Amino acid sequence: MASELDKIAEELQKEMWAGYSEVVIDHAQNPRNLGSIRNADGFASVTGPCGDTMEIWLKVRNGAIKQATFWTDGCGTTIAAGSMVTELAKGKTIANALRITQQDVLDALGGLPEESVHCALLAANTVKEAAKDYLTIRNEPWKRAYRKTSQL
Ligand code: FES
Repeated sequence: MASELDKIAEELQKEMWAGYSEVVIDHAQNPRNLGSIRNADGFASVTGPCGDTMEIWLKVRNGAIKQATFWTDGCGTTIAAGSMVTELAKGKTIANALRITQQDVLDALGGLPEESVHCALLAANTVKEAAKDYLTIRNEPWKRAYRKTSQL
């Protein structure tokens, strides 16, 4: 039998996520690909205008993204966006990962309320920067030694 506290917590959750799709709630509460990759082939850390940061790590094999992981200090929506953008990136070529847009993330999440659409932009920008980092390292491998990648 659910206690009074459980019921209150459930009500608060409902209020907090009102206006968000089931997909957003699922990815925020069960984020995919959370964490870092040691010796990643591509890495980016981007801070959005709201002050939240997202970090993305890529493992690339034969020009395709084999693994993509993320971390963020942002809100639940940012977690959902990071989770979704890493899902979208997996299996894509680097060229196609560079084409991932804010709209792609929004579409995959089933949309976001207007005040949260910038979270999808942060995720799209971060994955693009990680793909660019992969290209930089590929073209100038010595830069890997000077790269700052935060490890969790
Ligand atoms: Fe800052 Fe979502 S609230 S990125």
